[in-house]
Amino acid sequence: MDFTILINKENLLASSFVPTDLITTDDNENNFHNYADPNGKPMISEYIYPFFLKMQEEASLNGIYIIVDSGYRSYQYQQVIWDNSVAKRGIEETKKLVAPPGSSEHQSGLAFDIAYMRNGVYSDNVKSDDIEIKWLINNAHRFGFILRYPKGKENITGYKFEPWHYRFVGLELAALLHQEEITLEEYYERIKSENNAYGNKPNCLE
Ligand code: DAL
Ligand code: ZN
Repeated sequence: MDFTILINKENLLASSFVPTDLITTDDNENNFHNYADPNGKPMISEYIYPFFLKMQEEASLNGIYIIVDSGYRSYQYQQVIWDNSVAKRGIEETKKLVAPPGSSEHQSGLAFDIAYMRNGVYSDNVKSDDIEIKWLINNAHRFGFILRYPKGKENITGYKFEPWHYRFVGLELAALLHQEEITLEEYYERIKSENNAYGNKPNCLE
C-alpha cells in the first residue's frame, strides 16, 4: 500500500480491503481492544512498526511512554464503532468524531490512536496539553507520522481535533506537512492545482 494514500469520506477503501502486513503490537496492557483482536493487542502495518518503535524509544528517553491504543480496524469493526456512536451521540455528532466504514484510516493499518503510561498509570483520555501529546506534536514528523486531525483544520478534515490519532505518511511527506502546517487534504489539493496549472500549458510536443 502507498503510505501517502489519502483516505477520507471522499476517498474510500473497499469493504474487503485488509492490509497484508498486519502485526500485533505487544505493548497494550489495557486490553482496550479485546473485542476486536483475540490477542487483546492492537495491530498495525509491519512496515510502519519500526518507525513507531523508534519514536516510542526516543519519547521514553524524554520520560514519555506512548502506547498504540487502537490500530487496525476492519471495515466491519468500524461499522460497530459507528453504530455504537450513533446510538450514543446521534448521527450529527458522530459524523464529527467517527469515520463511516470504508473511510477510516484505521482500516489501512497506517494509523493508530495513542494512549500513554504516566507514573505507571495507563490513560487513553488524551488531551492536547498533555506532555505526551505536546512531545508528539513537535516530534512525530521526525519518525514519519502526522497528527491527522489538527486543531483549526476541522472544516478541512471534517473531524474535530483528535490529539490521539497519528498517521504514517513517510519521513519526507511528514516533514513537509509539519513544516507547512497543512493536512493531507490540503497537500492533495495543492498537487491537484499544480497538475491543473501544468495541464493548461500548451504541450510543445504536439
Ligand atoms: N476517529 C477517526 C476519524 C476514525 O474513526 O477513523
Ligand atoms: Zn484514530
